[in-house]
Amino acid sequence: MTGTPRKQIHLAAHFPGVNNTTVWADPASKSQIDFDSFVHLAKTAERGLFDFFFLAEGLRLREHLGRIHDLDVVGRPDTFTVLNALAGVTDRLGLAGTINSTYNEPFELAKQFASLDHLSGGRAAWNVVTSSDAFTGENFRRGGYLDHADRYRRAAEVVEATRKLWDSWAADTLVVDRSAGVFAREIPEIRHRGAQFDIAGRFVLPPSPQGHPVLLQAGDSDDGREFGAAAADAIFTGHGTLEAGQRFYADVKGRLAKYGRSPDELKILPAATFVLGDSARDAEDRARHIRYQQVGPQTAIAFLEQVWGRDLSGYDPDGPLPEVDPTDNVNITRGRVRHAKDPRAVAEEWRARAEAENLSIRELIIEVTARQQFVGTPAAVAEQIDTYVQADASDGFILVPHLTPAGLDEFVERVVPELQERGSFRTEYTGTTLREHLGLRHPHHHTAAHEGARAS
Ligand SMILES: Cc1cc2nc3c(=O)[nH]c(=O)nc-3n(C[C@H](O)[C@H](O)[C@H](O)COP(=O)(O)O)c2cc1C
Repeated sequence: MTGTPRKQIHLAAHFPGVNNTTVWADPASKSQIDFDSFVHLAKTAERGLFDFFFLAEGLRLREHLGRIHDLDVVGRPDTFTVLNALAGVTDRLGLAGTINSTYNEPFELAKQFASLDHLSGGRAAWNVVTSSDAFTGENFRRGGYLDHADRYRRAAEVVEATRKLWDSWAADTLVVDRSAGVFAREIPEIRHRGAQFDIAGRFVLPPSPQGHPVLLQAGDSDDGREFGAAAADAIFTGHGTLEAGQRFYADVKGRLAKYGRSPDELKILPAATFVLGDSARDAEDRARHIRYQQVGPQTAIAFLEQVWGRDLSGYDPDGPLPEVDPTDNVNITRGRVRHAKDPRAVAEEWRARAEAENLSIRELIIEVTARQQFVGTPAAVAEQIDTYVQADASDGFILVPHLTPAGLDEFVERVVPELQERGSFRTEYTGTTLREHLGLRHPHHHTAAHEGARAS
């Protein structure tokens, strides 16, 4: 190819966990906690030359109408344990963990992510989330709970203090003498004093291969976007359609200049689902079948109850929407990431849509929770993904397969070659670290010490 090189697509694999995108009823569905399942998805992603493997986080079992939310399969081993184990069975794949900044301390976080970065040879990433509810906080025995703005203030300070810890071993800290062994010349004490933390001490590890593990951010409020623009290397977002993606992309990249950052220093990676078929018709049939499995009769009612804030179990999922109005009871589902801000407005909108399109409750919920973004033949799906990226609706996608653990197999076998054919996706890994895969700079000041540490 000649002329300007094509913008390259970044892909990541979301391990299907606590959600109802996953079709648990499918006979091919396997355990979401067995190590084999994690290995299967990670190895598939690495075979497909993906940038990273991604774990979301749910810190408390969700409750719906006072019972454990039986629509979500729950149970997930500890993130660091899983990612460190995966580091041993993969070579190049980045390993991203969602870890909360509201309940964790900078020193612990710095140590855990630096360790993962060392053990994986520079493949660690941290998706910083702030959490959205006091219900989750109760698991941590916090008496009160930080309000939204304070959670972001804390997140910013957690990241600042963590980076100070990562940066504390200067480039010439380590002296490697093969006969005398390795010794530290001097490890300075770090001091961080802020509104949230007062930390003095010494960090316990030399700089890790990436210097700073890659930082992702996932909150969508104005504060969340600002925090992402100031501190993150990539944003995980739900803005997945072309227009919404372009708006979000322009908005967040437009915030970078005031932090002295350039647009390519922050990657935008929306979540995306996909369904493949041998023909467009076949893919659409499969997609429809999957949607009906994802939103069964009970799930449809539960979704409706989340907006209506009341028990609707007496309603027929195949019948019309309830005539009663929503209440303000947002606690009907506890532990959810997001709630409808204005339930009555949502109800009005849904009623109008159901009426206009003659939809039952279940059909409406299928429509409004639609997640299948890319549906078609492998060539068509590759074309859609490429179009989004070339049109600056994203820099790539975090793919959310609907099956654990084999949901990515078909994509890697059939779509990746199509993307490569288009010249928009790598044909081999050219770097060893996740920063290199993402085209991100290494924080310069640590290279020498890292080389020294690794030489030993
Ligand atoms: C696409 C996306 C994915 C998220 N994934 C998680 C997650 O896995 N675990 C979690 O605790 N919060 C998750 N969050 C929640 C956010 O980190 C944040 O705490 C919440 O959205 C409230 O912040 P906001 O008002 O800025 O959106 C996610 C948010 C978005 C938009």
